Amino acid sequence: METVVSGIRSTGNLHLGNYYGALQNFIKMQNEYNCFFFIADLHSLTTHPTPADLHSNVKQVLVEYLAAGIDPEKATIYVQSDVPEISELYLYLNMNAYLGELERATSFKDKVRANPDNVNAGLLTYPVLMAADIIIHKATKVPVGKDQEQHLEMARTFGNRFNRLYNHEYFPEPYAFNYSSNLVKIPGLDGKGKMGKSEGEGNAIFLCDTPEAIKKKVMRAVTDAGPTTENQTKPQEIQNLFDLMKVVSSADTVAHFDDLYNKMAIRYGDLKKQLTEDMIIATAPIRDRINAIAGDADYLRKVAAMGEEKARASASKTIREVREIIGFKKF
Ligand code: TRP
Repeated sequence: METVVSGIRSTGNLHLGNYYGALQNFIKMQNEYNCFFFIADLHSLTTHPTPADLHSNVKQVLVEYLAAGIDPEKATIYVQSDVPEISELYLYLNMNAYLGELERATSFKDKVRANPDNVNAGLLTYPVLMAADIIIHKATKVPVGKDQEQHLEMARTFGNRFNRLYNHEYFPEPYAFNYSSNLVKIPGLDGKGKMGKSEGEGNAIFLCDTPEAIKKKVMRAVTDAGPTTENQTKPQEIQNLFDLMKVVSSADTVAHFDDLYNKMAIRYGDLKKQLTEDMIIATAPIRDRINAIAGDADYLRKVAAMGEEKARASASKTIREVREIIGFKKF
């Protein structure tokens, strides 16, 4: 069975875009592949979180992924820092990662531009750590978005370079992987592009949002003055609301409002009310589970310990072999 690895950054709450875009893929994959999903807390150190923030961010991600349906009996879900073998592989890979190629990474250049006062070596070698994350389990499939393509290419480069250096076909090549039919676009509420946590207050609906918060955000969503001719093409802000509706509402409901729009009889207030209602219903089970799991310290401890054990079993096997290939020997 092929191995899947994906890292989840512990920054901020999960929103509907994460859920319908990425998580539903993970939930499907856990039934079909040997899946490792981890919380990337080592990666988060590049921005120097306080110990309290670090821990609460990790917990939040763990709780929300479990609540959304990642099953610790099917997939291995673990905290990256619980598996020190990853850091060891990162060190070895760093010996064959070159300054020039690391400086050329788009994500590095973006981060330098955004935070010129914090250009640390961890930031520069982020793609090396990410490569270690993936190849430590000899994964071949990595469910990530388009923005991670370059990092995956670098992971292949570093793995291949190791293989070549030691003349040993050891690491397989990892590739981006998604069920193409599941690549639904989840727009935000600001009338522009996709839902995101950094696009400003009110743009994203979080899985942990209360019904009141959802209502407030949807009611404030950007709209226009209404259609001016029959059957006209919808402007983006209106199309966005329909796209969201397609995800959380029934086909009948979408058709009903589409019809009203085409007849120029739509009232956006009604559309938003319906959208709010259906969003609240669609997210209710997850919200309930988030609240239940967040208070269950025993369960969280058990899940994290189980994940750690399974991840370390896989990672330590790789590290044992890598040490041998490199030439480390006991006296
Ligand atoms: N870089 C990824 C992101 O920004 C997170 C990540 C870290 C990751 N390590 C990974 C994703 C390994 C897939 C596999 O979203």
